[in-house]
Amino acid sequence: MSAKKVIILGASGNIAKHVIDILVKERHIQLTLFLRSIKRLKNKEVSSARIIEGDVLNFSQLKDAITGQDIVYANLAGELETMAKNIVKAMAETGVKKIIFISSIGIYDVPLNSLLKRYRYAADVIEASNLEYTILRPTWFTNANEVDYETTKKGEPEKGSVISQKSLATVITKIIESPEKYVRENLGVNKPNS
Ligand SMILES: NC(=O)c1ccc[n+]([C@@H]2O[C@H](COP(=O)([O-])OP(=O)(O)OC[C@H]3O[C@@H](n4cnc5c(N)ncnc54)[C@H](OP(=O)(O)O)[C@@H]3O)[C@@H](O)[C@H]2O)c1
Repeated sequence: MSAKKVIILGASGNIAKHVIDILVKERHIQLTLFLRSIKRLKNKEVSSARIIEGDVLNFSQLKDAITGQDIVYANLAGELETMAKNIVKAMAETGVKKIIFISSIGIYDVPLNSLLKRYRYAADVIEASNLEYTILRPTWFTNANEVDYETTKKGEPEKGSVISQKSLATVITKIIESPEKYVRENLGVNKPNS
């Protein structure tokens, strides 16, 4: 069986750090870390991963990096709507189908908190695509050393107020292991009873 090719966009991010720690140990996964500066990579042991310095806002850098991948995991902050448009276009042009995109709790609240607008618009862009997306809407992060989570579907009330970074990383790695799960789903993720 050939290795599954996974690219992490925004590999210097907090959640990406946890996901990388899990995935670098998986021999059936060929990991590519895409980030603006290797100096900001938080992981120490990444010798099995390919590293690309690049900017998601730079379409040609992004498209080159996505070419040939099986799964894109976007762990980004900043101009998320523009980034989502670039990612969708690059994936469409390269025939890559599966994306896991980290958004946020609260993006369907009315009225919409202005800080969450970019998360909402990015989710709208991903949902309007033909991609096999899984959008995750986590609650607020904690550093708790625990894995304890539940998910809610789009349209259901979001639950809870916190989620450990380790729990969210676990959800992401499970989807990477079984990408056929949660296709075209948009899930809230929270710690039960929090
Ligand atoms: N904190 C919470 O409680 C909470 C709750 C719900 C959702 N969220 C959201 O969940 C997402 C993941 O969280 P996180 O803590 O892992 O975020 P994070 O640590 O801020 O990571 C985001 C990453 O995006 C990268 N990035 C920004 N612009 C880029 C560009 N143009 N090209 C390439 N990379 C770029 C940053 O890289 P650089 O190192 O180059 O800056 C950074 O590593 C974020 O959007 C966050 O806002 C957070």
